Amino acid sequence: MGKMAAAVGSVATLAAEPGEDAFRKLFRFYRQSRPGTADLGGVIDFSVSHAARGTGPGAPKVVKSQLNLSSVSDHDALRAGLQPVSKWQAYGLQGYPGYQWHWVKQCLKLYSRKPNVCNLDKHMTKEETQDLWEQSKEFLRCKEVNKRRPRSLLEKLRWVTLGYHYNWDSKRYSADHYTPFPSDLAFLSEQVAAACGFQGFRAEAGILNYYRLDSTLGIHVDRSELDHSRPLLSFSFGQSAIFLLGGLKRDEAPTPMFMHSGDIMVMSGFSRLLNHAVPRVLPSAEGDSLPGCLGTPLPADLPRDSVVEPCSLEDWQVCASYLKTARVNMTVRQVLAVGQDFPLEPTEENKRDITAEGSCHLHGDNSQVKRARLSPDY
Ligand code: OGA
Ligand code: MN
Repeated sequence: MGKMAAAVGSVATLAAEPGEDAFRKLFRFYRQSRPGTADLGGVIDFSVSHAARGTGPGAPKVVKSQLNLSSVSDHDALRAGLQPVSKWQAYGLQGYPGYQWHWVKQCLKLYSRKPNVCNLDKHMTKEETQDLWEQSKEFLRCKEVNKRRPRSLLEKLRWVTLGYHYNWDSKRYSADHYTPFPSDLAFLSEQVAAACGFQGFRAEAGILNYYRLDSTLGIHVDRSELDHSRPLLSFSFGQSAIFLLGGLKRDEAPTPMFMHSGDIMVMSGFSRLLNHAVPRVLPSAEGDSLPGCLGTPLPADLPRDSVVEPCSLEDWQVCASYLKTARVNMTVRQVLAVGQDFPLEPTEENKRDITAEGSCHLHGDNSQVKRARLSPDY
């Protein structure tokens, strides 16, 4: 049988939990998985050539889908820090390696600043959370020397919201909680969406996830956006993770796949509303090293109208230190259809329906810094 069957076979050896759905079962399996063992044999690896990946009868088929190459120019791709469009692969787009630094630096240094919202705001003042980078950079640069020091604020950062700020309690976006969406990230998102056939995509909301090696992202569906015909874009950096893509219902077993640094995932059409989760961030083979694509310094020949900028050596050292034991994921969403407005406040009746819906979207994480609400099965 194929590799997938091997993984499913191992799941059966886990202590059975009565009434457990197929997704949860695989979530638990990969949460406990041991890198470098047969545990990961069933995980799809988009970075491995199609021939080498194997296509046994039980293995999920990876299909190469067509990109709309004419809608993005090579120049605009370069401006966004991406490879020429002809090199993009629809099943696993690779960012232009040198420029992954730009996005990592933005996530750590710029997007984490006010007026954007982050998990630390709940327990800290605006002044304290004003500049996490400034407060953490020296700590991070001496990380190796002093392993037992208290965690810096950047290391306590779990999520940041951009644009229309997602409300974790109401599970809604609203017109009155909006701050300008970063223009460089909007530009990147527009290029990627256009190549996938979504011209006119608007980057209106972002959720940035900051994972440590023990962080997970619970099983959820992203349904709070009001226009599901628009794709959801997800960019991954740093350590690799196992991403589980399930079905419309949680009793469908998910397909596991690796998310490596530089991978871009576009959830659109049927897959826009599928269950998904991240049960595991994988430590690098050497313990604390960076993926090769992040290890090289930046080439300096950027176009004059580039939206990505070179990263200084000093900034790069801080990011490198952080990423050795972390993964950063940026998700970009269009919330409203063109011409659409937010509906009026929901009635008390509807509000109860929303909170009663069991979908969860949070980090369970041993560090006790969790997203707003804990779900009962977490
Ligand atoms: C999300 C999400 C996936 C990831 O933020 O909604 O599903 O790969 N992120 O971190
Ligand atoms: Mn999601």
